[in-house]
Amino acid sequence: MKKPLVVGNWKMNLDYVEALHLVQQVGVMLKNKPVEHVDVVLVPPFVDLRSVTSIVESERIPVGVGAQHVNANDAGAHTGEVSVAMLKRLNVGWVIVGHSERRAAYAMSDDVVVATLRQVVRNGVRAVLCVGEVLEVRDEGGENDFVKAQLVSALKGLDPKYHELVSVAYEPIWAIGTGRNATSEQVADMTTHIRSVLAGLAMPGIHVLYGGSVNAENAGTLMAEGRVDGFLVGGASLKAESFLSIVQSCNDCYDGKR
Ligand code: 13P
Repeated sequence: MKKPLVVGNWKMNLDYVEALHLVQQVGVMLKNKPVEHVDVVLVPPFVDLRSVTSIVESERIPVGVGAQHVNANDAGAHTGEVSVAMLKRLNVGWVIVGHSERRAAYAMSDDVVVATLRQVVRNGVRAVLCVGEVLEVRDEGGENDFVKAQLVSALKGLDPKYHELVSVAYEPIWAIGTGRNATSEQVADMTTHIRSVLAGLAMPGIHVLYGGSVNAENAGTLMAEGRVDGFLVGGASLKAESFLSIVQSCNDCYDGKR
Protein backbone atom coordinates (compact mmCIF):
# COMPACT_ATOMS: atom_id res chain seq x y z
CA MET A 1 0.00 0.00 0.00
CA LYS A 2 1.31 3.45 -0.92
CA LYS A 3 1.48 6.23 1.63
CA PRO A 4 -1.93 7.89 1.26
CA LEU A 5 -2.29 11.39 -0.15
CA VAL A 6 -5.16 13.65 0.91
CA VAL A 7 -5.66 16.87 -1.03
CA GLY A 8 -8.12 19.54 0.13
CA ASN A 9 -9.49 21.57 -2.80
CA TRP A 10 -11.06 24.66 -1.31
CA LYS A 11 -12.43 25.76 -4.70
CA MET A 12 -13.65 29.39 -4.67
CA ASN A 13 -14.11 29.54 -0.89
CA LEU A 14 -12.38 31.34 2.00
CA ASP A 15 -10.77 34.78 1.68
CA TYR A 16 -7.22 35.17 2.95
CA VAL A 17 -8.29 35.92 6.53
CA GLU A 18 -10.53 32.84 6.63
CA ALA A 19 -7.74 30.85 4.98
CA LEU A 20 -5.31 31.83 7.72
CA HIS A 21 -7.76 30.70 10.38
CA LEU A 22 -8.24 27.35 8.73
CA VAL A 23 -4.52 26.72 8.21
CA GLN A 24 -3.77 27.67 11.80
CA GLN A 25 -6.45 25.29 13.03
CA VAL A 26 -5.08 22.51 10.83
CA GLY A 27 -1.61 23.24 12.22
CA VAL A 28 -2.76 23.05 15.83
CA MET A 29 -4.71 19.86 15.26
CA LEU A 30 -1.80 18.19 13.47
CA LYS A 31 0.49 19.18 16.32
CA ASN A 32 -1.88 17.71 18.91
CA LYS A 33 -2.50 14.55 16.91
CA PRO A 34 0.25 14.03 14.34
CA VAL A 35 -0.45 11.92 11.28
CA GLU A 36 2.62 9.96 10.38
CA HIS A 37 1.40 8.04 7.37
CA VAL A 38 -0.42 10.55 5.16
CA ASP A 39 0.78 13.32 2.88
CA VAL A 40 -1.59 16.26 3.24
CA VAL A 41 -1.95 19.08 0.70
CA LEU A 42 -4.07 22.23 1.00
CA VAL A 43 -5.25 23.89 -2.20
CA PRO A 44 -6.59 27.41 -1.56
CA PRO A 45 -7.63 30.05 -4.12
CA PHE A 46 -4.74 31.94 -5.77
CA VAL A 47 -5.15 35.06 -3.64
CA ASP A 48 -4.72 33.06 -0.42
CA LEU A 49 -1.54 31.28 -1.49
CA ARG A 50 0.96 33.84 -0.23
CA SER A 51 -0.45 33.95 3.27
CA VAL A 52 -1.00 30.19 3.42
CA THR A 53 2.55 29.29 2.34
CA SER A 54 3.98 31.90 4.74
CA ILE A 55 2.20 30.44 7.73
CA VAL A 56 2.89 26.85 6.72
CA GLU A 57 6.61 27.71 6.57
CA SER A 58 6.84 29.89 9.67
CA GLU A 59 4.88 27.45 11.85
CA ARG A 60 6.35 24.36 10.17
CA ILE A 61 2.93 22.86 9.51
CA PRO A 62 3.47 19.47 7.86
CA VAL A 63 1.34 20.06 4.75
CA GLY A 64 2.03 20.80 1.11
CA VAL A 65 0.35 23.72 -0.64
CA GLY A 66 -1.15 23.55 -4.11
CA ALA A 67 -2.96 25.71 -6.67
CA GLN A 68 -6.29 24.87 -8.28
CA HIS A 69 -5.20 25.76 -11.80
CA VAL A 70 -2.34 27.35 -13.73
CA ASN A 71 -1.76 28.70 -17.20
CA ALA A 72 0.13 26.48 -19.66
CA ASN A 73 2.35 29.32 -20.92
CA ASP A 74 5.53 30.71 -19.40
CA ALA A 75 4.47 34.38 -19.26
CA GLY A 76 2.95 37.14 -21.35
CA ALA A 77 -0.42 38.41 -22.57
CA HIS A 78 -2.77 36.11 -20.65
CA THR A 79 -4.98 38.49 -18.70
CA GLY A 80 -6.29 37.01 -15.49
CA GLU A 81 -3.96 34.03 -15.53
CA VAL A 82 -1.10 32.86 -13.30
CA SER A 83 2.12 31.09 -14.35
CA VAL A 84 3.90 28.11 -12.82
CA ALA A 85 6.95 30.30 -12.16
CA MET A 86 4.78 32.61 -10.03
CA LEU A 87 3.52 29.63 -8.03
CA LYS A 88 7.03 28.24 -7.54
CA ARG A 89 8.19 31.58 -6.20
CA LEU A 90 5.58 31.12 -3.45
CA ASN A 91 6.79 27.57 -2.74
CA VAL A 92 3.62 26.07 -4.16
CA GLY A 93 4.48 22.43 -4.83
CA TRP A 94 1.28 21.09 -6.38
CA VAL A 95 -1.28 22.02 -9.04
CA ILE A 96 -4.67 20.45 -9.75
CA VAL A 97 -4.88 19.98 -13.52
CA GLY A 98 -8.06 19.51 -15.52
CA HIS A 99 -10.62 19.63 -12.72
CA SER A 100 -14.05 18.90 -14.19
CA GLU A 101 -15.28 22.34 -13.14
CA ARG A 102 -12.56 23.94 -15.27
CA ARG A 103 -13.15 21.56 -18.15
CA ALA A 104 -16.90 22.21 -18.13
CA ALA A 105 -17.26 25.86 -17.14
CA TYR A 106 -14.01 27.35 -18.47
CA ALA A 107 -13.65 25.42 -21.72
CA MET A 108 -10.50 23.57 -20.68
CA SER A 109 -10.02 21.18 -23.61
CA ASP A 110 -8.00 17.97 -23.56
CA ASP A 111 -5.26 19.82 -25.45
CA VAL A 112 -5.05 22.49 -22.78
CA VAL A 113 -5.01 19.80 -20.09
CA VAL A 114 -1.98 18.14 -21.74
CA ALA A 115 -0.16 21.45 -22.18
CA THR A 116 -0.88 22.46 -18.58
CA LEU A 117 0.20 19.14 -17.12
CA ARG A 118 3.48 19.27 -19.04
CA GLN A 119 4.14 22.85 -18.05
CA VAL A 120 3.61 21.91 -14.39
CA VAL A 121 5.87 18.87 -14.28
CA ARG A 122 8.57 20.42 -16.52
CA ASN A 123 8.91 22.98 -13.75
CA GLY A 124 9.31 20.30 -11.10
CA VAL A 125 5.86 20.87 -9.60
CA ARG A 126 3.52 17.98 -8.80
CA ALA A 127 0.30 17.60 -10.80
CA VAL A 128 -2.99 16.06 -9.68
CA LEU A 129 -4.70 15.15 -12.94
CA CYS A 130 -8.50 14.95 -12.62
CA VAL A 131 -10.58 12.55 -14.70
CA GLY A 132 -14.19 11.42 -14.43
CA GLU A 133 -17.41 10.95 -16.34
CA VAL A 134 -20.83 12.61 -16.30
CA LEU A 135 -23.87 10.60 -15.22
CA GLU A 136 -25.15 9.97 -18.77
CA VAL A 137 -21.87 8.27 -19.66
CA ARG A 138 -22.06 6.02 -16.60
CA ASP A 139 -25.73 5.23 -17.26
CA GLU A 140 -24.69 3.97 -20.69
CA GLY A 141 -21.84 1.91 -19.21
CA GLY A 142 -19.23 4.06 -20.95
CA GLU A 143 -17.25 5.22 -17.92
CA ASN A 144 -14.19 3.00 -18.45
CA ASP A 145 -13.68 4.08 -22.06
CA PHE A 146 -14.31 7.70 -21.16
CA VAL A 147 -11.76 7.76 -18.34
CA LYS A 148 -9.23 5.80 -20.40
CA ALA A 149 -9.49 8.37 -23.20
CA GLN A 150 -8.91 11.21 -20.73
CA LEU A 151 -5.88 9.46 -19.22
CA VAL A 152 -4.33 8.54 -22.55
CA SER A 153 -4.89 12.03 -23.90
CA ALA A 154 -3.24 13.67 -20.89
CA LEU A 155 -0.40 11.24 -20.20
CA LYS A 156 0.63 9.39 -23.37
CA GLY A 157 4.18 10.25 -24.33
CA LEU A 158 5.00 12.01 -21.08
CA ASP A 159 8.73 11.78 -20.45
CA PRO A 160 9.26 9.04 -17.82
CA LYS A 161 11.42 11.37 -15.75
CA TYR A 162 8.24 13.25 -14.85
CA HIS A 163 6.09 10.25 -13.93
CA GLU A 164 6.80 10.51 -10.22
CA LEU A 165 5.35 14.04 -10.23
CA VAL A 166 1.90 12.89 -11.38
CA SER A 167 -1.10 11.66 -9.37
CA VAL A 168 -4.52 10.88 -10.82
CA ALA A 169 -7.81 11.76 -9.14
CA TYR A 170 -10.95 9.96 -10.28
CA GLU A 171 -13.81 12.35 -9.70
CA PRO A 172 -17.10 11.19 -11.23
CA ILE A 173 -18.89 14.45 -12.00
CA TRP A 174 -22.21 13.14 -10.68
CA ALA A 175 -20.60 12.68 -7.25
CA ILE A 176 -19.04 16.14 -6.92
CA GLY A 177 -20.77 18.37 -4.40
CA THR A 178 -23.94 16.29 -4.63
CA GLY A 179 -23.67 14.35 -1.37
CA ARG A 180 -23.88 11.22 -3.51
CA ASN A 181 -20.47 9.57 -3.35
CA ALA A 182 -19.61 6.66 -5.62
CA THR A 183 -19.95 3.32 -3.83
CA SER A 184 -16.82 1.52 -2.66
CA GLU A 185 -17.43 -1.06 -5.36
CA GLN A 186 -17.70 1.56 -8.12
CA VAL A 187 -14.55 3.21 -6.81
CA ALA A 188 -12.66 -0.10 -6.57
CA ASP A 189 -13.68 -1.05 -10.13
CA MET A 190 -12.57 2.30 -11.49
CA THR A 191 -9.29 2.46 -9.58
CA THR A 192 -8.46 -1.03 -10.86
CA HIS A 193 -9.28 0.11 -14.39
CA ILE A 194 -7.22 3.30 -14.01
CA ARG A 195 -4.24 1.33 -12.72
CA SER A 196 -4.38 -0.99 -15.71
CA VAL A 197 -4.51 1.99 -18.09
CA LEU A 198 -1.57 3.55 -16.24
CA ALA A 199 0.35 0.27 -16.46
CA GLY A 200 -0.27 0.33 -20.23
CA LEU A 201 1.26 3.82 -20.27
CA ALA A 202 4.27 2.50 -18.31
CA MET A 203 3.21 4.56 -15.27
CA PRO A 204 2.40 1.82 -12.78
CA GLY A 205 3.47 3.42 -9.52
CA ILE A 206 1.43 6.59 -9.34
CA HIS A 207 -1.21 7.50 -6.76
CA VAL A 208 -4.85 7.04 -7.72
CA LEU A 209 -7.17 9.20 -5.62
CA TYR A 210 -10.95 9.39 -5.43
CA GLY A 211 -12.96 12.60 -5.13
CA GLY A 212 -16.69 13.27 -4.92
CA SER A 213 -18.61 13.87 -1.70
CA VAL A 214 -15.89 12.36 0.48
CA ASN A 215 -16.56 13.13 4.14
CA ALA A 216 -15.56 12.06 7.62
CA GLU A 217 -18.21 9.32 7.58
CA ASN A 218 -17.47 7.60 4.26
CA ALA A 219 -13.67 8.10 4.01
CA GLY A 220 -12.71 5.04 6.07
CA THR A 221 -14.85 2.65 4.04
CA LEU A 222 -13.86 4.17 0.70
CA MET A 223 -10.22 3.88 1.70
CA ALA A 224 -10.47 0.31 2.95
CA GLU A 225 -12.72 -1.07 0.20
CA GLY A 226 -12.24 1.33 -2.70
CA ARG A 227 -8.55 0.49 -3.15
CA VAL A 228 -7.64 4.16 -3.45
CA ASP A 229 -4.35 5.78 -2.51
CA GLY A 230 -6.09 8.79 -1.00
CA PHE A 231 -8.67 11.47 -1.67
CA LEU A 232 -9.29 14.79 -3.39
CA VAL A 233 -11.72 16.47 -1.00
CA GLY A 234 -13.90 19.50 -1.76
CA GLY A 235 -16.57 20.63 0.71
CA ALA A 236 -15.26 18.63 3.67
CA SER A 237 -11.85 20.31 3.36
CA LEU A 238 -13.31 23.67 4.40
CA LYS A 239 -13.48 22.72 8.08
CA ALA A 240 -10.40 21.53 9.97
CA GLU A 241 -12.34 18.87 11.92
CA SER A 242 -13.92 17.15 8.92
CA PHE A 243 -10.79 17.41 6.79
CA LEU A 244 -8.54 16.00 9.47
CA SER A 245 -10.89 13.16 10.30
CA ILE A 246 -10.60 12.12 6.64
CA VAL A 247 -6.82 12.36 6.97
CA GLN A 248 -6.98 10.35 10.20
CA SER A 249 -9.07 7.61 8.53
CA CYS A 250 -6.39 7.24 5.86
CA ASN A 251 -3.70 7.18 8.52
CA ASP A 252 -5.48 4.42 10.47
CA CYS A 253 -6.15 2.42 7.34
CA TYR A 254 -2.50 2.61 6.25
CA ASP A 255 -1.37 1.66 9.74
CA GLY A 256 -3.67 -1.37 9.73
CA LYS A 257 -2.60 -2.56 6.27
CA ARG A 258 1.13 -2.01 6.36
P1 13P B 1 -16.81 17.55 -3.01
O1 13P B 1 -15.93 16.81 -2.04
O2 13P B 1 -17.36 18.83 -2.46
O3 13P B 1 -17.83 16.66 -3.65
O4 13P B 1 -15.83 18.03 -4.22
C1 13P B 1 -15.02 17.10 -4.84
C2 13P B 1 -14.08 17.83 -5.72
O5 13P B 1 -14.44 18.29 -6.78
C3 13P B 1 -12.70 17.99 -5.24
O6 13P B 1 -11.87 18.46 -6.26
